[in-house]
Amino acid sequence: MTAVPVIAIDGPSASGKGTVAQLVAEKLGFHYLDSGALYRLVALAAMRAGVPLDGDERLASVAASLEARFEAGEPVTGAIRDEACSIGASKVAAWPGVRSALLGRQRAFRRSPGLVAEGRDMGSVVFPDSGLKVFLTATVEARAERRYKQLKGKGITATLSILLQDLRERDARDAARSVAPLKQCPDARFLDTTAMSATEAAQRILAWYRGGE
Ligand code: C5P
Repeated sequence: MTAVPVIAIDGPSASGKGTVAQLVAEKLGFHYLDSGALYRLVALAAMRAGVPLDGDERLASVAASLEARFEAGEPVTGAIRDEACSIGASKVAAWPGVRSALLGRQRAFRRSPGLVAEGRDMGSVVFPDSGLKVFLTATVEARAERRYKQLKGKGITATLSILLQDLRERDARDAARSVAPLKQCPDARFLDTTAMSATEAAQRILAWYRGGE
């Protein structure tokens, strides 16, 4: 039996990997996993329950009981995208108990005909046997600019210099943690999207997947 194919797209915050991964998934008719959303949900659930983000054990049980809290249908798609949740997610993601509690849940997304998974450790930890691994990035300035435009488009006021500082801090926290730090896998293709649109980036990945250059 052949394994269900996975395309793993990892990279730093606001690199555009979400948009690109969704475009690739649409084109191939594959399922899509936004693994960051799970860490954001853990942060939101913990903050609401008054569980401090600086200890592993209680956070791991929050992570293990996510469905119970959110599947009842409260829409939290807006809440998990705000800056407090972004910062909270990168804090809870540093705890090994949280990461292992989310492992099975992420792997369950691997269903026929295929999966495009995006995050920080898709290629290294969650789906190490992915057929294609991509490390997608852009300069921190370009990423801050993209986030700024995205927020502005939604009518949210933001300050570019603060976004830039937040991104730098999150990059440092994601790269420095001892479990599943953000780094390029040796077998991942490097894609710098600083001067590329999301559509161009998706086309490049599709060409790699189909075996071309
Ligand atoms: O990708 P996104 O910015 O939504 O992820 C939020 C946070 O979740 C990241 O800053 C990172 O710390 C964490 N994360 C992770 N591993 C993943 C996906 C996200 O540690 N696979």
